[in-house]
Amino acid sequence: MCGIVGYVGQQEAVPILLDGLQKLEYRGYDSAGLAVISKGKLELRRCQGKLNKLVQRVAQAPLKSLVGLGHTRWATHGRPSEENAHPHTNMDGTLAVVHNGIIENDRVLHMELEKEGYCFASDTDSEVFAHLIDKYYRKGTPLETAVRRAVGRVKGTYALGVVSQREPQKIVAARRGSPLIVGLGQKEFFVASDVPALLAHTREMLYIHDNELVTLTPQGVKITSAAGQVQKRKPEHITWDAIQAEKGGYKHFMLKEIYEQPQVMEDTLRGRVTGLGGEVVLDDANLSAALVKNFRRVFLIACGTSWHAGLVGKFLIESMAGIPTEVDFASEFRYRSPLVDRQSLVVLISQSGETADTLAALQEAKRRKAQTLTICNVVGSSMTREAHGTLYTHAGPEIGVASTKAFTAQLTALHLLALYLGRKSGNLSGAKATAHMDRLRGVPRMLERALKTDAHIQELATKLFKHKDFLYLGRGINYPIALEGALKLKEISYIHAEGYPAGEMKHGPIALIDGRMPVVTIATNSSVLEKVMSNIQEVKTRDGSVLALVTQGNREVRKKADWTIEMSAIEESLSPIVNVIPLQLLAYHVAVKRGCDVDQPRNLAKSVTVE
Ligand code: AGP
Repeated sequence: MCGIVGYVGQQEAVPILLDGLQKLEYRGYDSAGLAVISKGKLELRRCQGKLNKLVQRVAQAPLKSLVGLGHTRWATHGRPSEENAHPHTNMDGTLAVVHNGIIENDRVLHMELEKEGYCFASDTDSEVFAHLIDKYYRKGTPLETAVRRAVGRVKGTYALGVVSQREPQKIVAARRGSPLIVGLGQKEFFVASDVPALLAHTREMLYIHDNELVTLTPQGVKITSAAGQVQKRKPEHITWDAIQAEKGGYKHFMLKEIYEQPQVMEDTLRGRVTGLGGEVVLDDANLSAALVKNFRRVFLIACGTSWHAGLVGKFLIESMAGIPTEVDFASEFRYRSPLVDRQSLVVLISQSGETADTLAALQEAKRRKAQTLTICNVVGSSMTREAHGTLYTHAGPEIGVASTKAFTAQLTALHLLALYLGRKSGNLSGAKATAHMDRLRGVPRMLERALKTDAHIQELATKLFKHKDFLYLGRGINYPIALEGALKLKEISYIHAEGYPAGEMKHGPIALIDGRMPVVTIATNSSVLEKVMSNIQEVKTRDGSVLALVTQGNREVRKKADWTIEMSAIEESLSPIVNVIPLQLLAYHVAVKRGCDVDQPRNLAKSVTVE
């Protein structure tokens, strides 16, 4: 996610902006910049790369000012570069904006503005705000009026900051779907994306709500609604220390990221499930209908958690697009002389876009003339530069080494890809695609419901954390979730855990069953539930203990299992996105009970850039 900081008051603004951006570095970024009003003129400093480059840039050309905005950019549209770094300005360079979010209708607005003579200097969606506000910012119009009109034209999410040399002691900010807070000082006021940026200056914060707009001057702060009505807001006193603040008050980044998953899924769907005739919009995938009709096989290639996402993707693509789909470990793929050719679509799934094995598999696929696509979370990463097309997940930076929100974002992206291939290949009707999209849109709310099992899971972890072995069982599209649940547990709690297809029990693993090895079973409603229930019976008759994920109301499973976690009913193909949540929470709470370093587990790296 991008980071925003703004200041207006009696102190030098630049050091406050730079310090605030530094406190937001944990959010991850690829470029940074600031805009101030100095001697009545708007001044900009921007650069690609880390904050120290911006500090050097400012040192080379110092700025004196009492008002300004700073920004760290996590690219979602447009590669990391100085031109794409924020702030963006209007054409005469008298007004600057910083933005965190995604504008869904940026193309429509871009064309409208170009028709009116506006020229764009970047390939970001955010620059639209600079010209749209300029368009409404006519002589005599207050900046907040122009900003209100501009945000009313935008579909999507924003946390926005705006300064103008025409009103040099003012910041106007607005939010919808991206966080924005205001810090209250003595004759000085602050705006930021998150608390850590302001804690050095104040602990009195105003939380801005969706569709509100706030005007800051040295005389004070005014919050107004979308219609312009003044809103009262009681300041919150923040008690967190700086470290707690970076984690949003959560104990670990992993837990914060588990809780971010509803928003992340919405952000990954945003602007792509238009619903118009069941069409999915994947602008950067570079997959024409002609190309799709030519595909005879799809390969989903990845490592670790991303490979588990690929296993789910196989079900989705084969059922919606009717194209045979193989899933392979990246570390195996290129050494097995894969039967890949011009009629192959090779999809590389990677949160980081830098995993060495997956990158090498991409290069091998290109050598064999396949069409390549990467499902990736990092704009401008190696895989996104080398693949023919990209399908970005919008999970924001994932700090915890154990992947959580990136995984559910990958599953969401695979639903979008399966729908897209289904429609382009002619295998999926518009009506069926639209129906599936409607179901997809409802899943973030179900993720929120799944997160409500947290306290119950914490209690279960207290009972189970001393065990030395776990078995995870799942069938069908939830077998990959059993694998993922086992991986989460082993990589952060160092407990041996195996994921297995439940139907494989009698072919070996059942010899392991005894009272010392909990068996976590995904037994939510599905086409194979009866089979899973007989697997649970097999475990119980051998004195095994069972923790079962069940669909609310299923008393049968509750009777058989030792412990249950109740889930809402959901269509089977969507169930992996929701079923993984309690397994992430179980791994998290067991690891915490065992005193493990949850965010930085031993021996692991966030991105494995060596073979
Ligand atoms: C998952 O929790 C692990 N951190 C690891 O398996 C990870 O998924 C794997 O290394 C692949 O990383 P990537 O998605 O960045 O390519």
